[in-house]
Amino acid sequence: MDLEIPDIIIAIDGYSSTGKSSFAKRIAHSLGFLYLDSGALYRGVTLLVLENGWHGGDRIDTEKLEPALSGLDLHFEDHGKGTRTYMGERCIERQIRSMRVSALVSPVAALACVRHYVDQRLHELARDGRVVMDGRDIGTTVFPDAQLKIFMVADPLVRARRRMDELAEKGETVQLEEILENLRKRDYIDSHREISPLRKADDAIVLDNTDMTLDQQMDWLRELLVKRFGK
Ligand code: CDP
Repeated sequence: MDLEIPDIIIAIDGYSSTGKSSFAKRIAHSLGFLYLDSGALYRGVTLLVLENGWHGGDRIDTEKLEPALSGLDLHFEDHGKGTRTYMGERCIERQIRSMRVSALVSPVAALACVRHYVDQRLHELARDGRVVMDGRDIGTTVFPDAQLKIFMVADPLVRARRRMDELAEKGETVQLEEILENLRKRDYIDSHREISPLRKADDAIVLDNTDMTLDQQMDWLRELLVKRFGK
């Protein structure tokens, strides 16, 4: 984008599979900003829980998890194929996108120790500004002073279809009904949890992208940036 944008933080929040990450990645690419995927960090912690068997159903063993968080190195690397999530030296990008992780991530993300860990990581990673971040509570809790906040919504069936295609591309076949159920459950847990529940920040702008392509979203954003920041 041929726009001069100051060193701001752009916060993109919203429901599951509304296309936050595709939009955020595209914005980062066109503005030369850093992209931070907060959900990937929650997914990384969830993978740690699953691999160690620190849960029984939706109940997480926080006595085991909490001490492990202090030494947990979750970060992002980009080797030319887009941003990938790492746990120490190990690339965990593929594993964290599986249904197994999606099924447990919201109960894990509702835990105070986990939210504290992720908030801290995000602040460390965003130190230098010029960042676009996506999640559930970026505009409300993590960066309440973000200069631009977008809240994304879309029709649930469209969201489920998008997720199904995404999983199919990675070789995982999942029924639409199972995905819809997972989205419903996560939406519910995410918006009803005690600590920083998913909600629109008062100063966030709503974007319903049910019938929009990514290019149309970028046109929408361009107009918004021109209005907000002039050139
Ligand atoms: O599947 P989707 O891309 O919509 O979700 P995600 O961004 O990968 O996030 C996965 C889960 O992490 C969400 O369902 C939330 O439970 C949690 N999350 C959160 O609580 N707060 C955030 N800022 C980001 C994600």
